[in-house]
Amino acid sequence: MSRPVGYRRETLDAILATARHYNERNDITGALITREDMYLQLLEGPPAAVDTTYAQIVRDTRHAAVRTLVHRQTSWRLFPDWTMRQAPAADWMWSPEEIAAGRAYKAPRPEVEGLFLRLWREGIKVPARGFAFLRRSDP
Ligand SMILES: Cc1cc2nc3c(=O)[nH]c(=O)nc-3n(C[C@H](O)[C@H](O)[C@H](O)COP(=O)(O)O)c2cc1C
Repeated sequence: MSRPVGYRRETLDAILATARHYNERNDITGALITREDMYLQLLEGPPAAVDTTYAQIVRDTRHAAVRTLVHRQTSWRLFPDWTMRQAPAADWMWSPEEIAAGRAYKAPRPEVEGLFLRLWREGIKVPARGFAFLRRSDP
């Protein structure tokens, strides 16, 4: 989690281009949620690669107040096919007021992971027929 410094289209494009270039080489995948008032990023990969990449990201002057919200081992990736998926912050994420109040930095781990889980779920295309079949309310 961090606060953008100079949030512009070109800056974001440059960050993503660099991220994708290095992540490809370093076996890192993940997602970067962006808004004028926040960057929220998930980094996935071999622990050493994640730590090295994070150490570089922390030093980047294009953002400030970089903090780790969740750091843990898993046996799977949420975004294995993305060198860095980018998504604008959705209305179901923290509001600008909540961000300004520092709410995100104090969020419990399941809440943070929940944001990325929802992003992951919304990236899955459910076929229309399959969806109708799955609806529990169908008679
Ligand atoms: C919000 C944000 C996210 C970033 N994400 C990544 C990333 O996923 N992988 C990466 O290698 N660099 C990422 N970067 C860029 C790094 O900070 C850094 O520029 C890059 O690792 C190259 O290192 P260098 O500038 O020391 O050559 C990110 C930067 C910012 C501001």
